[in-house]
Amino acid sequence: MIISVGSVKGGVGKTNTAIHIAAYFQLQPTLLVDSDRIRASLLWSKRGQLMFDVVDEIQQAKAMRAKRYEHIVFDTEGSITDTGLRELSTGSDLLVIPAIPEASATDGLIYTLQQLDGTKAKYKILLNRVKHNRVKEATELRAALNEMEVPVFQTEIPDLAAFDKASAQGVAVYDVQDPRASRAWQSFLDLGKEIEADA
Ligand SMILES: Nc1ncnc2c1ncn2[C@@H]1O[C@H](COP(=O)(O)OP(=O)(O)OP(=O)(O)O)[C@@H](O)[C@H]1O
Ligand SMILES: [Mg+2]
Repeated sequence: MIISVGSVKGGVGKTNTAIHIAAYFQLQPTLLVDSDRIRASLLWSKRGQLMFDVVDEIQQAKAMRAKRYEHIVFDTEGSITDTGLRELSTGSDLLVIPAIPEASATDGLIYTLQQLDGTKAKYKILLNRVKHNRVKEATELRAALNEMEVPVFQTEIPDLAAFDKASAQGVAVYDVQDPRASRAWQSFLDLGKEIEADA
């Protein structure tokens, strides 16, 4: 499967999502292509150890010649152009768009959705950084998106410091010593199952 993670809005959790979607699929050969020039995914992989391959855009051709990958996940940059986003979505089986349920992030999400309007892209919104004590924001955003007939994953990714620790240590969140690490990983197990069920 070819899955891209993108949004016109920066800092919504694209890299965290791409890393953990790849971690979900890693039982089969999986490649994460980092097309963000900051190379956040690539740097993540170099800080520690991940069980899937991570390369930048330039290295992807060589990586694909060396191995037959079953799954390819694209992490993309926050400052992606409108055309870039459309090309990304039509070039993938699925575009996952992380969105943080807070008022300040909604404009960026609406703009992203407008860019995809009229394309044949298959995309789905992922509510990310959902705070356990502020569930109302997530419920309201989900209702607004349902109203607009925009597809939204049932799974929500909780706001947990374990994800930040995973990034700092260069591992997937199931390898982090944190009381909430298993909850954090469970959310991506649920997401992965939902992606597979949709495919
Ligand atoms: N579910 C979460 N819980 C807690 N922290 C999170 C979560 N998702 C992302 N973060 C944190 O939010 C910050 C931004 O996340 P990330 O780098 O994944 O976003 P991004 O969309 O890739 O950003 P950019 O646009 O700069 O590439 C990071 O510090 C990350 O650890
Ligand atoms: Mg990123």
